[in-house]
Amino acid sequence: MNETTRTVRELYEQFPYPSGTPTIRLGFDARYLLSLSEQSRKTAGTIRVLDAGCGRALGLIGAASLQPDIDFLGVDLNRVALAEAEAQVSARGLKNLRLLESDLEQLDLEERNFDIIHSSGVIHHLTDPSAALRALGKHLAPHGVIALMVYGQRDPMQRVAAAIQALTESSEPLVERLAVARELVRNLASAQPDNATWKSANEVDDAEFVDRYLHPCEQFYDIDSLFDLIDSSGLAFMSWADSSAWNPAQELQGNQQSDLLAERLAHQSELDRYKLALSIHRPGKLELYVCKPGNRLRQAPAPETYETLPINVHPEVTLTLEHRGVWCESKIEKISTCLRGSEPVSLSPGPVASAAVMLATVSEPFLGRDLMRILESDGLTTMQSRGVLTELFERELIYTPHLVDISLPGDARVAV
Ligand SMILES: C[S@@+](CC[C@H](N)C(=O)[O-])C[C@H]1O[C@@H](n2cnc3c(N)ncnc32)[C@H](O)[C@@H]1O
Repeated sequence: MNETTRTVRELYEQFPYPSGTPTIRLGFDARYLLSLSEQSRKTAGTIRVLDAGCGRALGLIGAASLQPDIDFLGVDLNRVALAEAEAQVSARGLKNLRLLESDLEQLDLEERNFDIIHSSGVIHHLTDPSAALRALGKHLAPHGVIALMVYGQRDPMQRVAAAIQALTESSEPLVERLAVARELVRNLASAQPDNATWKSANEVDDAEFVDRYLHPCEQFYDIDSLFDLIDSSGLAFMSWADSSAWNPAQELQGNQQSDLLAERLAHQSELDRYKLALSIHRPGKLELYVCKPGNRLRQAPAPETYETLPINVHPEVTLTLEHRGVWCESKIEKISTCLRGSEPVSLSPGPVASAAVMLATVSEPFLGRDLMRILESDGLTTMQSRGVLTELFERELIYTPHLVDISLPGDARVAV
């Protein structure tokens, strides 16, 4: 372990991330991540997931609890966080989650061919992110998917960190730097109450503060450096986690049609499109999927094939219904969906909203025709019911898992 990594370990052992009482997060859906890959597993069997830099394993424990038939391995160098997570795992009696202390810079597990590798908020804190990502690639199956979150442009946070650096020495003990930094930020927040940068820095707890503003090792990515990172790791870009946020044409042409812009947008390269989106939104976190070079993002299914497609309801979508009790009945006033904690999106009343409500209680895979039959019994034509499914796919309320990753209930499997 090199000197910087040792300092990073000390920081996280003093301030395990995230702080507070453990609240188990929903975690990620392994079958959804596998469904993004054009290549599928060759044989059925237990799906295996590696979480690289799992920290206190809050998301991982959530994922393992909700997917008991999947094997999870969490790796981190923080012994304090791992011990705490281990206690949580045994308290919950989880048999499908193991934890391992290891430095990702030197990762060389006996186990290889992980179907999914998840790494959120970690790679940008390593001394050689490209070497670490290459090492993750070596542990990935040919059909596998790496779900990655790295820092994007964090201008306000970099500003706070720079102010702290100008007042403290990185060689000082962390707790002393923290005391000075908090005092600085408290003063600035009170001197400039309308300034969101100081206000937000003043409001976070110590673990978040240290992670954001006092980190000894961090990288911030733009599009060029992110794609260099992926290339130099011998991997390939698959897609963004929220691909709609990376399509500026949709946003720019949404309300006001402009021929001048449309022509330019139509001729943009993929990277320029992403650069434009990055300039518009300046996301602080870049969430994306990468894979091995022989693999790529699976194409969206053609509507003519919907009848025979296996379908899963996406568990990472939260559906919110607003009810009102009226005379002798309960009326739904508003339906909104929210994917992975992003802004809720309202669904207008109609067949898509009704289908979403119906699907909210479905947890088993089904065939497209099962849903189409119900829609058609409500008076929709086949074309219209396919349109409903297309919208449900586009809104990511449903996805189509690879057949090898699921078992369909009895007669449905025979029908495939
Ligand atoms: C910001 S936390 C993210 C934790 C978790 N992924 C999450 O989203 O809550 C970064 C984690 O990376 C771990 N980490 C940093 N450098 C590492 C290394 N070289 N090897 C293994 N883990 C490392 C830290 O210990 C810490 O738990």
